[in-house]
Amino acid sequence: MAAGAAGRRDPEPGPAGEKRILCVGLVCLDIISVVEAYPAEDSDTRCVSQRWQRGGNASNSCTVLALLGAPCAFMGSLAPGLAADFIAADFQRRGVDVSHVAWQPRGDVPCACCVVSAASGSRTIVLYDTNLPEVTARDFERVDLSQYKWIHWEARNAAEQAAMMRRVERHNRARPPAEWVRTSVEVFISKDVAQHFGYRSAPEALQGLRSRVQPGATLICAWAEAGADAVGPGGELVHSDAFPPETLVDTLGAGDTFNAAVIFALSAGRSLQDALTFGCQIAGRKCGIQGFDGIV
Ligand code: FRU
Repeated sequence: MAAGAAGRRDPEPGPAGEKRILCVGLVCLDIISVVEAYPAEDSDTRCVSQRWQRGGNASNSCTVLALLGAPCAFMGSLAPGLAADFIAADFQRRGVDVSHVAWQPRGDVPCACCVVSAASGSRTIVLYDTNLPEVTARDFERVDLSQYKWIHWEARNAAEQAAMMRRVERHNRARPPAEWVRTSVEVFISKDVAQHFGYRSAPEALQGLRSRVQPGATLICAWAEAGADAVGPGGELVHSDAFPPETLVDTLGAGDTFNAAVIFALSAGRSLQDALTFGCQIAGRKCGIQGFDGIV
C-alpha cells in the first residue's frame, strides 16, 4: 500500500532519548455493546452500555504499551473520514506516535461490531476488514530504524512483512548488538490447530514448532486460563499460570494486552520468566475491567 508519505520523519526518541517500540498491523473502530448475556440469534434486546473504542491487535498493544509508560508508535493503514478522525484523536490522547500511519486514498477503515457479555466476559467480534490496502515494505523503508528498540508485527500480509523483517536483519547485521532492533511476530496457533497437529498443550506445541523458527528465537504461546508457556533461545521451557480476575468482565484485547506486556518487559531487559508472568498479570487485570483504563 502506498502511503504518500514522502518527507515524513520519525519523531525524536522518547523522554531521555529512550528508544521506541513500534507495532505494525491493524487499527479498526470497535463498536462495543456490553450485554447482560449473549443474545439469541434474531432476537431484539437492549444492551447495558455501548462505546466506541480504537481496536485492532497492533493498535491495542500500543494502547497498553503507552499505559505501561513505554514510548511507542503505530504503523498501519487508515483512510480519511469520521472513523479515522476518532482513531487518530484516540492515538493522540494515549500518546502513541502515528507518523508512520499509511493514509490510503481509497478503501474503508475496518470496523468491528463487538458484543461483550457481562455474564461471562466473552467477546464476540464481527470485523469488516476487506478493502483497505496494507502497509508495504516500501512504506516501511521510511522508518528510521535507529529510533526503535523493538518492532512487533501482527502477522498480516506475509510477503511484505517478510521484506520489512529482512530490512531490520540487514540493519542489525551492520551494527553492534547493543544497537540491534529486536523483533517479534504475532502468529496465531489456536488450540484447534495445535491439537490438529497432535499437540495436547502449549508446551507440547512449542516443542514441536521450535524447529521451524530461527535459532536464537523465543516462542511464546498463551493458552487462556492455562496461562502461558515459552521456549527460550537456549531451549529452556518457561511457564506462568494465569492470573484470572475475580470476575471476568471484558476479554476484548486480552491477547493484545499480553503481547504488549511481554514485549514491554523483555525490551526492558527482564528475563523471559519475568516477562511471561508480567504478561499474564496485566492480561488478567485487563479481563477484570471494561477497556484498558485501569490495567496499571
Ligand atoms: C481484539 C481485536 C479487536 C478487533 C479485532 C480484530 O484482539 O484487535 O480490537 O475488533 O480483534 O481482529
